[in-house]
Amino acid sequence: MSPKSRKILVTSALPYANGPIHIGHLVEYIQTDIWVRYQRSRGHLCYYVCADDAHGTPIMLKAQEEGISPQQLIERIGREHQRDFEDFSLSFDNYHTTHSAENRYYSNYIYEQLKKGGHIATRTIRQAFDPEEQMFLPDRFIRGTCPRCKAPEQFGDSCEVCGSTYSPSELIDPVSVISGATPVERESEHYFVQLGDFEDFLRAWVSGRDQGANGQARVQPGIAKKLEEWFKVGLKDWDISRDAPYFGFEIPDKPGKFFYVWLDAPIGYMASFKNLCDRTEGLDFDSYWKPGGDAEVFHFIGKDIAYFHTLFWPAMLHGAGFRTPDAVYCHGFLTVNGQKMSKRRGTFIMARTYLEHLNPEHLRYYFACKLGDGIDDLDLSADDFVKRVNSDLVGKVVNIAARCAGFISKKFEGQLSDDLAEPKLYAEMLAAAETIGASYEAREFGKAVREIMALADRVNQYIDERKPWIMAKSEQSAGDVQAVCTMGLNLFRLLMIYLAPILPRTADKAGEFLGCGPLRWEDVEQPLVKRRVNAYEPLLTRIEVEKVTAMIEASKESAQMSSSIAADTDNVQLQQIDISQFEIVDLRVARIEAAAEVDGADKLLRLDLDLGGTRRIVFAGIKAAYDPSELVGRLTVVVANLKPRKMRFGTSEGMVLCAGPGGKELWLLSPDSGAKPGMKIR
Ligand code: 2FM
Ligand code: ZN
Repeated sequence: MSPKSRKILVTSALPYANGPIHIGHLVEYIQTDIWVRYQRSRGHLCYYVCADDAHGTPIMLKAQEEGISPQQLIERIGREHQRDFEDFSLSFDNYHTTHSAENRYYSNYIYEQLKKGGHIATRTIRQAFDPEEQMFLPDRFIRGTCPRCKAPEQFGDSCEVCGSTYSPSELIDPVSVISGATPVERESEHYFVQLGDFEDFLRAWVSGRDQGANGQARVQPGIAKKLEEWFKVGLKDWDISRDAPYFGFEIPDKPGKFFYVWLDAPIGYMASFKNLCDRTEGLDFDSYWKPGGDAEVFHFIGKDIAYFHTLFWPAMLHGAGFRTPDAVYCHGFLTVNGQKMSKRRGTFIMARTYLEHLNPEHLRYYFACKLGDGIDDLDLSADDFVKRVNSDLVGKVVNIAARCAGFISKKFEGQLSDDLAEPKLYAEMLAAAETIGASYEAREFGKAVREIMALADRVNQYIDERKPWIMAKSEQSAGDVQAVCTMGLNLFRLLMIYLAPILPRTADKAGEFLGCGPLRWEDVEQPLVKRRVNAYEPLLTRIEVEKVTAMIEASKESAQMSSSIAADTDNVQLQQIDISQFEIVDLRVARIEAAAEVDGADKLLRLDLDLGGTRRIVFAGIKAAYDPSELVGRLTVVVANLKPRKMRFGTSEGMVLCAGPGGKELWLLSPDSGAKPGMKIR
């Protein structure tokens, strides 16, 4: 059945080791995993590797903020990432880190090769420097007023209000985000990859011309268009060095100079694979990475990092004598309910929060429905999510097994008929393997799902026509009931084989129920007859809408806990306000009369406040930081004119003020003694 077996290496982009995995990340990992599982199910040797992207200034600063070493931070985050990935059934063959011996080796090697080839230039540049922290500042760590539209609090490289880009030295009143000091300009020697040296090669690679006249393009049409623009503008030298202090690899023979994180990040793909090769008998690194080998290499990434993967990365590989990727597949961004993911709306959902409320197979299925081979954004709509999972997956597919299993186990002790009553129907469903397989191969998962669901409709129609529940009432039709249900279970098995790359756990459970072991594509032609199935247990249950609501509430809660304005991905503008605007906020002293945990809320305490005669109930995300009993009687500060906010547990009628990053590190503000409940704070 399977065509000639292929050797394939697949990667997903390496997540930064400074924060948790969220559902936006999962689009890519699920997309890649489905493709990888499909390849394996067709008998190909397909390795899937990934790693944490562990270097760079943000990681160094986050570790400092937490009072731990960068190594401690990346180890902890690495463990959390792997736990999330495992729970979403992502089938990595290896999950490594870019802060590894293998990655240091290949980073040095590639750099040395580029240098030998004359592709590295050295230049002195002027750059913003924080005189207090004694460090050069990446553009994102400088804020100031936009030189074009005068919007305050803009990043050092671009304005989020007018969209213009500029250099940090053009910002008006710039400040370092790290220390608040005014940056000064300093000179430093930097190293650059001369990307222009590779233009001819890159143009040929992108179009596939390097493979000969019939070569396949390496990128999707939308990305090819973007590349055309980049070529037109001209390929600029790429600055690959950063000055100490920096968490990364020091450049050989250049003390105090480090490789920029984006140099060693893609090399992390190779390094993770090398780490796997060193632990796997017979797995030969060179046959995957040397030119002329018989393996294929594919990278799955988000469209925002196409420049790195379609220009820098192939240039680096080519310049260092390695093979280049067969293709780089980009996907679009995830929106939720038609909008950018938002902490405030509770749609910035962490993988862990999702897992605490819902089944990972449901999300795998939903993303599969929405994924095609293009780079358009995809939307997760809560209503559509519930509807598709409940009506398609549970109502159509799993329901076939539920409808047939009862009769087979109760009336026939699990025994299936000796042959298939409707071989033509079986053959029709078997024939679909080819088009469904082609859709998987082309990353048209939505198309594959639509075809599978049309087949499921056909099977349900067959059962509806035969009506085994009526036949079962008469003794004479007993054999017919067995025949129809045997057909039903066999067709269900085919559907589950087709769905297995998307729903690996459900497929495993189906295999156990059918008593045939793992469901394999290569077995599609052998129906299950003359054998027993096991007792049926529900394979997948419906989504309860309340659980989706609870997940969104929990996401709001954790966003409240961790919100720091600078880090908020809703891009809240840090605006200056004048005194009259400040006066709009009614801050009052309040006494905490009672404090209690809230049933079902992980992070909230319910505070009953006295504002000098008026009472307020406020839900505050301070459970990790305070034992309720220690709060009673204490004075604090409350925003008294905040619009009441309906939460799952009741309405919150204000907000108490705390300092600190969140979690255990929160400190409630209190006035000095003498202040009385109800006093206005000015
Ligand atoms: O954009 C990101 O999240 C990067 N950490 C992706 C790196 S992919 C590869 F180059 F390592
Ligand atoms: Zn502007």
